[in-house]
Amino acid sequence: MRQVKLPIYPVVYPTGHRLNQNESQFPLPDRIMSQLDSVTYHDLHEYPVEPINELFEHYAAYVGVTPEQLLVGCGSDEMIHVVTQALLAPSDIVLSPAPDFSMYPIFTTIAHGHHIQAVDLSYDGIIDAIEMHHPKLLLLSNPNNPTGKLWNVEELAHLASLVPYLVVDEAYMDFTPGASMIPLIAKHPNLIVLRTMSKAFGLANVRIGFMVTNIELAQYFRQFIPPFNISGVSAKICNIFLKDVTYLQETIEWHDEMRQKWALAFESIGHVFPATTNFLYVELAQPEVVWSHLTALNVHTSKQPTGIRVTIGDETALKFTQEAIHQYVESMNVKNS
Ligand SMILES: Cc1ncc(COP(=O)(O)O)c(C=O)c1O
Repeated sequence: MRQVKLPIYPVVYPTGHRLNQNESQFPLPDRIMSQLDSVTYHDLHEYPVEPINELFEHYAAYVGVTPEQLLVGCGSDEMIHVVTQALLAPSDIVLSPAPDFSMYPIFTTIAHGHHIQAVDLSYDGIIDAIEMHHPKLLLLSNPNNPTGKLWNVEELAHLASLVPYLVVDEAYMDFTPGASMIPLIAKHPNLIVLRTMSKAFGLANVRIGFMVTNIELAQYFRQFIPPFNISGVSAKICNIFLKDVTYLQETIEWHDEMRQKWALAFESIGHVFPATTNFLYVELAQPEVVWSHLTALNVHTSKQPTGIRVTIGDETALKFTQEAIHQYVESMNVKNS
């Protein structure tokens, strides 16, 4: 057996307001809810073909590529798994900025690679780390999880020219489609973009993610995917959402509005980073103290070294959190008086 020490999922979920996983809390419109009853016996007993072909058509049209440029998997997590398995030889280096998505070192380790983080989240930090470590793969999220930082497209294009492969994980890009690297795929033969239905589309439990790249790389990666790796029922559900003309715009607008309210709530205790995502990063003088206070009151956020990451929740979660923040401010005032 290999000596690896990796976290084992599933984690135990706390009760209360779960604002630590970047799950969507956008309330589903009735017209979508009513279509979710359409699963039939036919959808259940045969290995899936038609709904997945349809999903390829719809998603390709949505992101502006051909279906041959797509791979689909069990969330974009499976796509990270496939990319690392398919590209890494033992001890190859994968480079990511710091901070970035926690699964990158895990999938790199599973694929026998070696994960390294740059000193920070800056372009110069990445350039220095490339010069020093010569990574096979540069793997980063854009927008960045946990900070929400949007990378500059020209800078990313230049980084693509410095490494064998650039993987841009655009899990949250549906909120700002204009900043996607997908239009640059034709120009950069080593560019791989990852997307998901889990975030803006609000389908984390449906487990559908995509890889978008050129046809040659897509064909290469297809060898590493088992047949029928996604459920036809999941594909059918995604098709309902992709066919709806206004759903995505509605959820984006809801998030824009709610994000402002959440930012306002946290500005009283920390520095809220600008973001276009379904989460906010709040930089704090005492992250541990704030995180513990909120957790004790059943507001579950993601603890980070310099702050907390908070998912944009609905009005009920917001009210509850505002009250918890109010109590925190009061307790600090008492301490300091
Ligand atoms: C940056 C990033 N990439 C990928 C994922 C994985 O998402 P999924 O497997 O649900 O598509 C997440 C989930 O939080 C994420 O934040």
